[in-house]
Amino acid sequence: MQNHQAFIDAACAVIGHDHVLTSDLDMYAQDWRKKYFGRPLAVLRPASTAEVAALVKLCVEHAVAIVPQGGNTGICAGSVPDASGEQVVLNLARLNRLRSVDPANNTMTVEAGCILQTLQDTAESVDRLFPLSLGAEGSCQIGGNISTNAGGVQVLRYGNTRDLVLGLEVVLPSGEILDILRGLRKDNTGYDLKQLFIGAEGTLGIITAATLKLFPAPRACAVAFAALSSPAQAVKLLQHMRAELGERFTAFELMSDASIDLIRCHFPASPNPFTSPHSWYVLMEATDSGTDAALGALFEGALERVLEQGIIDDVALASSKAQAGELWMMRENVSEAQQIDSPNIKHDISLPISSIPAFIDEVVGALEKTYPGVRPIIYGHLGDGNLHFNIARPLAVDNAQWQDETHAVNTMVHDAVVRQRGSISAEHGIGQAKQEEMAHYKSEAELVVMRAIKRAIDPQLLMNPGKVLDMGSTS
Ligand code: FAD
Ligand code: MLT
Ligand code: ZN
Repeated sequence: MQNHQAFIDAACAVIGHDHVLTSDLDMYAQDWRKKYFGRPLAVLRPASTAEVAALVKLCVEHAVAIVPQGGNTGICAGSVPDASGEQVVLNLARLNRLRSVDPANNTMTVEAGCILQTLQDTAESVDRLFPLSLGAEGSCQIGGNISTNAGGVQVLRYGNTRDLVLGLEVVLPSGEILDILRGLRKDNTGYDLKQLFIGAEGTLGIITAATLKLFPAPRACAVAFAALSSPAQAVKLLQHMRAELGERFTAFELMSDASIDLIRCHFPASPNPFTSPHSWYVLMEATDSGTDAALGALFEGALERVLEQGIIDDVALASSKAQAGELWMMRENVSEAQQIDSPNIKHDISLPISSIPAFIDEVVGALEKTYPGVRPIIYGHLGDGNLHFNIARPLAVDNAQWQDETHAVNTMVHDAVVRQRGSISAEHGIGQAKQEEMAHYKSEAELVVMRAIKRAIDPQLLMNPGKVLDMGSTS
């Protein structure tokens, strides 16, 4: 890029010097896992859609590549630039207004930089629920959630982020504003363009606002933590609980004993309801619009039956909101605990639920044979067929040596996933971290269509280059 200073000056003219950052950029340059360190040309912090559009036009004029950034909590390093010093980070944090709430239509229209937890609170303030919920909700932004099609812990009942979006406002790579910000449940007027931008990880444009679905606020909630002997029992438990509780069943989170040990090691105040250790655990939740007493009785009855049938070995039912909160906090601390522990080789896989027990046996067996002492930290959203199948180093192997095994371990895990017609990314996306695997595991036919879409919308390849798809040289 020739004239960086002219670009910076022009950006300052659009959003003011205070919002064009050129020093102390580490927090914008490195990903949450601290595995990727980029070097931004600058960090731009616009506060309105018009400012985003003007900045994108400037980038087109100066041929500067753009990396959209939300809360920077992504797991695949999609929100950080490369090390060339030629890419700008377009940080959406200041674009954070609540535009409107329409309780009668069960919708809210919000800007991309709104923090997820703030939106949950906004929904609650009008006696509604915005169900997207994940461990990073205190810092991730709705624009990032939409761009990654985030999953989280309520997918079982409410679906992925894709299912929660009715309309979008997007600044296209040309700088034009695409206004498809409608709050309609039915609209069959041609292609559903918003779907292209959901899960695109910032490679097709910048999401500036969204109209989101709201749901009736649940009145009653029941949470239980069960201990069991195997993933096969967990799959049986899921079927029984769904059969008994139907639509009330909102969350079903599996955790291995190694995951629980790790959490307790780094968060010693975590609850420990059982007197003896077990091999596997499940955290479950049900909600409805009745009373806590009625839902509690239903939930307890269902749990008694699975206990009698020997599907679970033990169970603790949360007796208060505070106890339920502690159990959820334990689950949500697992990524942080792993981050503190030591670098692990992470996988975010999607499988038919029925094939998960055999998959775990096969792949853990193969890993243990190749790497004696290896520590699989397996947890995740079993109710959605989504496992976080993370592989920590054998204690005899140092961190650097273990990182050198990344490709070999990924191949063992992902080859087995593909044999089951699963997916190598269930909810975290591709970013930089899985771009090579994307090229390897996706069919040529899928890649050809995706590249054609990318070229049609972003012919200069300026939007988040180096992420998701390999489009060849871009700068
Ligand atoms: P960022 O990390 O900033 O960006 C993610 C991607 O979206 C990047 O490619 C970026 O370029 C793009 N992007 C961001 N904003 C925009 C925009 N406005 N327009 C266009 N592109 C944009 N994920 C789950 O799915 N489920 C979980 O349960 C879950 N739990 C987590 C728990 C923890 C503790 C942590 C740290 C992460 C977790 N994540 C989870 C991952 C992460 O929080 C999600 O991917 C989240 O949706 C990212 O939002 P963000 O605002 O941080 O986006
Ligand atoms: C989770 O379910 O906790 C997340 O997706 C984050 C992670 O796996 O690190
Ligand atoms: Zn997850």
